[in-house]
Amino acid sequence: MREVPILAEAARPVFLRTVREAAPLRILELGTAIGYSALLALRESPEARIVTIERDADMAEAARSFLGRAGVLGRATVLVGEAEKLLPTLAGNFDLVFIDAAKSRYPDFWLGVQPLLAPRAVVVADNVLFRGLVEGEGSEEWPKHSYRTMVLQLREYLRLVRSAPGFRTEIFPEGDGMAVSRRDE
Ligand SMILES: C[S@@+](CC[C@H](N)C(=O)[O-])C[C@H]1O[C@@H](n2cnc3c(N)ncnc32)[C@H](O)[C@@H]1O
Repeated sequence: MREVPILAEAARPVFLRTVREAAPLRILELGTAIGYSALLALRESPEARIVTIERDADMAEAARSFLGRAGVLGRATVLVGEAEKLLPTLAGNFDLVFIDAAKSRYPDFWLGVQPLLAPRAVVVADNVLFRGLVEGEGSEEWPKHSYRTMVLQLREYLRLVRSAPGFRTEIFPEGDGMAVSRRDE
């Protein structure tokens, strides 16, 4: 079985606290993997439903099975496909969005979820500091080739969220860095 990337243990308290504070009824997740973060979010918000998108069909099937065994599949819709293609087919209003799919697409994901957001939505993005290469100490060197696109796109994501009118963004360093952008207009 190949390694399944799930929410880092160190980032879990930030994630849970953010979900609790957002008290969402509708959650959207980009990047399901086996459904671990979806389960955490659903457990933390017992009234919520989640739509979660996964491009790998086997992984999506594993998530359905996992969420079923956890007794929350009735509150989950697992969609199979590329998030960037499926986003325009969805209808809002989501109270909480968790971005955790391809890092090089984060700016597209941010733009793609905008029409789907509730007025006081919270958008959470994981891995935004990617191994310390995105900003701060250790990020001064030009990123090595294999990470370059990802790192540059994550910098662009942070630029976008920080300059987005009507949003306040906090960056938490726990795990691989988590950006929490709250819409407060
Ligand atoms: C870091 S894992 C998600 C972990 C999960 N959110 C958790 O914490 O339990 C990223 C997942 O996103 C999926 N993925 C990557 N790019 C995607 C895309 N463009 N659209 C949909 N899913 C994508 C990958 O197949 C992978 O399963």
